Amino acid sequence: VLKLYTYPEPVLKKTAQKVEKVDDDIRQLLDDMLETMYADAGVGLAAPQVGVSKRMVVIDVEQEDDENGHFTKGNPLFLINPEIIWRSDEMVCGEEGCLSVPKQRAEVERHAQVRVHYTDYNGKEQEILGDGLLSVCLQHELDHLDGILYIDRISRLKRQMIIKKLSKTQSSH
Ligand code: NI
Repeated sequence: VLKLYTYPEPVLKKTAQKVEKVDDDIRQLLDDMLETMYADAGVGLAAPQVGVSKRMVVIDVEQEDDENGHFTKGNPLFLINPEIIWRSDEMVCGEEGCLSVPKQRAEVERHAQVRVHYTDYNGKEQEILGDGLLSVCLQHELDHLDGILYIDRISRLKRQMIIKKLSKTQSSH
């Protein structure tokens, strides 16, 4: 399980670098990212959130939690150099949270569907059409690769409220 970087760590604001080659080091990092995501009960995690400024994302919107609060593998997705190639005109609004903005949530507007082109775990080119939670998750995680957090997509007032609450919990440690 890797260390999670939280707001306002500078790595979260950087544009991540393209992955040139999918090798065993990259696969190891993807595996570690997935374990970190499950350990923290997230549905998605981008490499900058573990301090690695590379264009890599893991997502699992089908995981289930048992009665002990342990998450089990559902259908993990590994996305390398993902790119949104189509966005629906239809928009949806839903509450989002982020492991890098601990214990906060806010309503964010997103495209109802997106189509994403990416390289998979084995280095093969793939495409996926995201709908519902997967669509929101893809947009949220891909934003991380461009240094954008969901709080950058809400009103200034709400953002300031969240940042204020965050700084209070962080300074109490
Ligand atoms: Ni996030």
